[in-house]
Amino acid sequence: MALLDKHKILETNATLLLVFSFLVVTIGGIVQIAPLFWLENTIEKVDGMRPYTPLELEGREIYLREGCYVCHSQMIRPMRDEVERYGHYSLAAESMYDHPFQWGSKRTGPDLARVGGRYSDDWHVQHFRNPQSVVPESVMPKYGFLEQRMLDGRYVGDLLATHAMIGVPYDDAMLENAKADFMAQADPDSDYDGLLERYGDRVNVRNFDGQPGVSEADALIAYMQMLGTLVDFSTFTPDASR
Ligand code: HEC
Repeated sequence: MALLDKHKILETNATLLLVFSFLVVTIGGIVQIAPLFWLENTIEKVDGMRPYTPLELEGREIYLREGCYVCHSQMIRPMRDEVERYGHYSLAAESMYDHPFQWGSKRTGPDLARVGGRYSDDWHVQHFRNPQSVVPESVMPKYGFLEQRMLDGRYVGDLLATHAMIGVPYDDAMLENAKADFMAQADPDSDYDGLLERYGDRVNVRNFDGQPGVSEADALIAYMQMLGTLVDFSTFTPDASR
């Protein structure tokens, strides 16, 4: 009873109530935020994560430019319906090189976090040209014009350098060879040994859109086919030690 009486003092004095509310919120905030400063790293390291290749990074830029994130998320939540539909839930590490991240909050279309390897390159070409031709009820717009827009890799070095500036570990060799790696990934007849040496031998080297030259469709499909494929989930075990 006595405690409730004292509470009445607080409830009838606006200024005092404000001061105490602020105090309570501050304590809650500290409890939540402070431990992060003592953790060495809040993102669990996982094998397989690598910076995106120049072609994939360019494809990601096109993804941003076209606003694909307006209809598509890239984050599989750890809930049964999502995991059964899309695959292993997304790890923080899987978007560690995304600036800005593409988790999204709207799913007019399906989540794309693990779309890599789910369809053939031809399927993507057809789907971008005319989504309704492969999924009749689709409301996705047509993106066939991407095939006509050719790229020469003129700015891709700058793009990599910008990402390096904000913490993506592109090394000097990657930056110097950005344009060559960019062209090589879309041309299986080229000398792409350097590309594989720098980014790993699981990088997809293909003529993604099936046409000569490097188009925006090549870049976007290279990005799609990489999504969610970097971490090998047949060997991945969550680190339970923290
Ligand atoms: C107006 C909303 C909308 C926009 C914008 C949009 N999409 Fe879609 N997308 C959809 C819908 C709806 C589907 C499901 C039907 C289908 O497959 O076409 C879909 C399906 C897809 C699929 C197949 C996914 C799967 O697992 O079956 C891919 C890949 C895709 N979109 C990529 C893109 C890309 C890349 C862009 C940007 C260039 C984009 N979408 C823009 C609505 C959209």
